Amino acid sequence: AKLKMEDLVGLCKRRGFVFQNSELYNGNSGFYDFGPLGSELKSNIKSQFRSQFIHARSDVVSLDSSIISNPKVWESSGHVGGFSDPMSDCKESKKRFRSDQLFWGPVKDEKGDIVCWVCVHEDDTEIMKKEAKKMAKKIIKNEKINVEGRTTIDISTFKDLTFATESDIQNIPSPESLKPTLTMPKDFNLMFSTSVGASSTTPAYLRPETAQGIFVNFKNVMGSSRMKIPFGIAQIGKAFRNEITPRNFVFRSREFEQCEVEYFIPPGDCWKEYHKEWLDFSKNFLLSLGVRDDLMDWDVHSGDGLAHYARACTDVTFRFPFGESELMGIAARGDYDLKAHEEGSGKSLEYYDEETKERYIPHVIEPSLGVDRVFLAIMCSAYAEDEVSGEKRTFLKFKPSVAPVKASILPLLKNKPELVEVAQKLYDELKMRWNVDFDTSGAIGRRYRRADEIGTPFCITVDFDTIEKEGKTVTVRFRDSCEQIRMPIDEVMGFLGKEIDG
Ligand code: GAP
Repeated sequence: AKLKMEDLVGLCKRRGFVFQNSELYNGNSGFYDFGPLGSELKSNIKSQFRSQFIHARSDVVSLDSSIISNPKVWESSGHVGGFSDPMSDCKESKKRFRSDQLFWGPVKDEKGDIVCWVCVHEDDTEIMKKEAKKMAKKIIKNEKINVEGRTTIDISTFKDLTFATESDIQNIPSPESLKPTLTMPKDFNLMFSTSVGASSTTPAYLRPETAQGIFVNFKNVMGSSRMKIPFGIAQIGKAFRNEITPRNFVFRSREFEQCEVEYFIPPGDCWKEYHKEWLDFSKNFLLSLGVRDDLMDWDVHSGDGLAHYARACTDVTFRFPFGESELMGIAARGDYDLKAHEEGSGKSLEYYDEETKERYIPHVIEPSLGVDRVFLAIMCSAYAEDEVSGEKRTFLKFKPSVAPVKASILPLLKNKPELVEVAQKLYDELKMRWNVDFDTSGAIGRRYRRADEIGTPFCITVDFDTIEKEGKTVTVRFRDSCEQIRMPIDEVMGFLGKEIDG
């Protein structure tokens, strides 16, 4: 069955992966809280990034820079002047929209004739998005478009359009409320501003990307860790963007986490090779986390689609239930950033290559991923349904390395102290190494189902054979196949070590 966003969001809330922020006070749009399981999963994504992008490579080191910097950093980087999205206000509904995400799409009748035009948000529908994109460009340029006959909209005539969800259909704003009552697009800067200290007069900003903290520390890191080009600096941390229209659960939020690398290379044509290497490396990383290969694709940016600083950028996209969207980007940023900070600070950021005796400003390749988007892609990839003993089962097929709970330890009967005691001892040993559960309540089948639903890869049951028979074996049940094997209790730690840590 096709995964619906509502089901995933429901599971996330029910089992404690993700909660709406400030739910107690009716929410806080664009902000989310990660619950006990969500915070474990997120932490596993980040630690996999740390181990694969940093520890396993001798050419990458880490950094943890401050969220708030001297505002001059953001002036030099171009964010104060240009980190904005076009925004339109609706005078009637008083709502604000990102102008480049609103598209006029043709609505056709059964014969295929266009009966009217409708304004939709980019996430609403894939098909409409493509056709309407051309229209949107014209709207933004304030050119006249044909909107004749757009006053009658009957959703039931949308025969040849597929909408993502029922709620999307209901949420489509009526064209009358959007046009002509939409103001012309104006630039809205996405940085959150704050003030530092009691007497500050200039605003400071919460970082909208972790990358700039890396550029401004380039000299410090190089000098202190004696890295030689090519080398990279990686950073994992929060970023903040005052998104005009946060959408699609944690996909586009106002506070999120990034894992970024700035990989410094010599100038010249060599960037193409490094760019390719980082594309492969990044894709393999996503695969290792369990992001489904058949749902991923590449999106090569060109022309208008390229950010002002980039010479090339390729996104890894993922087919989410609401459509295909960017998961991470791998950009070749040239020397744009270091040059900008050299100019802004008046201090040299040149590198001296001792071998070639050359001085130059390094260029960079930047793999950048959003932890929250990878989180969502892993959830979508893992979500599965099947039937076990005639009953429908929903489970999450997490790779053991990312699973929030690695194993659930289950004494067969909770009123048999001799079973509980042995199980408790095993749990006490395992919990020193991993996040594991100890579950005594309910029939064993129900306990399995609970563990399956949160994606726990192994259930370990202590039964009478464990205490009465020689060999002291427990059963190990595998989540995906429901298959069970017996193994001596003292081999469990080694077995799990291999399965989880490789
Ligand atoms: N330093 C480059 C940079 O920040 P970006 O494409 O703007 O590039 C990189 O962001 C990644 O950060 C995206 O691929 C996405 O995974 C994540 N990201 C960006 N905006 C986000 C948002 N509002 N909510 C969640 N993740 C976001």
